[in-house]
Amino acid sequence: MAAEPFSPPGLPQRCEIRLKTLWERRANFYDLCEGSDLRRGAHKKALFRRIQGRTLFVAIGTGLDIQHLPAGPAIIAIDVSSAMIERSRKRAQRFAGDLQLVQSDAASLCFPGESFDTVVTSCTMCSVPCPGIVFSELHRVLRPGGRLLMFEHVRSSNAVLGAVLDLMTMATRRRGTEMNRDTITAATKAGFRILQVESIFLDIILAMEALKVPDAGARPTRSN
Ligand SMILES: C[S@@+](CC[C@H](N)C(=O)[O-])C[C@H]1O[C@@H](n2cnc3c(N)ncnc32)[C@H](O)[C@@H]1O
Repeated sequence: MAAEPFSPPGLPQRCEIRLKTLWERRANFYDLCEGSDLRRGAHKKALFRRIQGRTLFVAIGTGLDIQHLPAGPAIIAIDVSSAMIERSRKRAQRFAGDLQLVQSDAASLCFPGESFDTVVTSCTMCSVPCPGIVFSELHRVLRPGGRLLMFEHVRSSNAVLGAVLDLMTMATRRRGTEMNRDTITAATKAGFRILQVESIFLDIILAMEALKVPDAGARPTRSN
């Protein structure tokens, strides 16, 4: 079924201007730095194969992930950066499936509640300023029983590796990347139940599947 077109209402104040500007700039050389085999395309393809039904992809970047998406489901892909969206357009046009690009802040999504069957993130939670708020938004737009698929790099639980990632973050934060996020805890706090965690590289790069529990009861709390 083709996706209903959404009209984004313009980016809200909540979107950090500094961070947005940063990603606008990074769009120019993103493919040069990130378009390599280190992207672990085979693992992404395997994860994205689990996409079902109406799907929200957060965040599309320059569209390097599009080649790994299945052609069947109706997918809306968002990014906060207009430059990223523009760069992804060519790849989206070459995509055989139903893919719509929308500029939107993941911390304040322009979609009604419970409007997606699947939500996908790909190196997203290391890049947003407030993962707790973003997870609350993903929880809101996902239907009860819907799946959240995540391909993310996170802080290692190993004390030494964790400390190394903390140090690295002091340098990478300036260009918008946090290497030491506790993404599993943030997802759980937002009301997701983690179903599966697959290690792609040590316990640093993970492919995960989580469930929006159908009768979660109390509203999930927001946290940063
Ligand atoms: C590391 S890139 C990942 C892009 C793509 N998924 C990939 O793997 O190539 C992070 C992306 O998150 C986007 N981003 C950062 N903050 C965002 C937000 N609040 N809402 C939506 N997208 C955001 C950036 O513009 C950038 O395109």
